Amino acid sequence: MVTISRRNFSGQMLSSLLTLTLVDTLSQEKLLGKSIDRIANQWLAEVEEISRAMKNGQAKQTEWSLKIGEIFTRVELSDFLRSIDFDRASKKIRFPDDSEGVVSVNPARPRGLPKELEFSTYVYGLKKGRAIAPHCHRNMTSMHMLIGGELHAWHFDRLADEPKHLIIKPTLDRALAMGETSLTSDDKDNVHWFKATSDAAFTFNLAVFDVDRSSQYSGRQFYLDPSGGEKLSDGSLRVRHLTNEEAHRLYGKS
Ligand SMILES: [Fe+2]
Repeated sequence: MVTISRRNFSGQMLSSLLTLTLVDTLSQEKLLGKSIDRIANQWLAEVEEISRAMKNGQAKQTEWSLKIGEIFTRVELSDFLRSIDFDRASKKIRFPDDSEGVVSVNPARPRGLPKELEFSTYVYGLKKGRAIAPHCHRNMTSMHMLIGGELHAWHFDRLADEPKHLIIKPTLDRALAMGETSLTSDDKDNVHWFKATSDAAFTFNLAVFDVDRSSQYSGRQFYLDPSGGEKLSDGSLRVRHLTNEEAHRLYGKS
């Protein structure tokens, strides 16, 4: 289970938002339409099923990505997520000035689902020019879905590991469409980076950490420097690792 501290979390979000469920929180704040329960009931069980299968070794990470992409491109879900009143949300969330803000959310779940789900859900928010700095995960799958504002996304495949560098290959460099999903796994688009290009931008994030329980890696991100990378002859980049502080200084705000 991911710890909240994986992002700039404590002290930067309204504490009242932290412990409530997505439904409760956003309904109370009148940020959501009324169709949420019916729709959440549809996707929660499906997401839990594929996430559990992946963690049990019965589904590959790429299969998880395909399934999540399919679930979250359904029109009614996109409509539902887009029904969030982000102008109001912007006023409720205190955004960091050099990085993303994160709200942990716990969707209300239908009967029959286990108490502890295999996946975690978050809403990310960024002010204009702020970025989720370029980073890589190991032993983790996730999806960001653009649900408010405008966001530029960069993806890279991780080709090779060196002690203090990675060799990565650019695979995406463009604005995301509203409702579009951005998926990452150990196998594909393993490095990602997002920057808000409108006054505020929001993503709905769904992540499975510690996919392989026997792995030494938890899935937590580490930062990289693609802009300062060494361009190799085949179009790939040799990029150094960054500390959290460097990443926020170099990429967090522009
Ligand atoms: Fe990430």
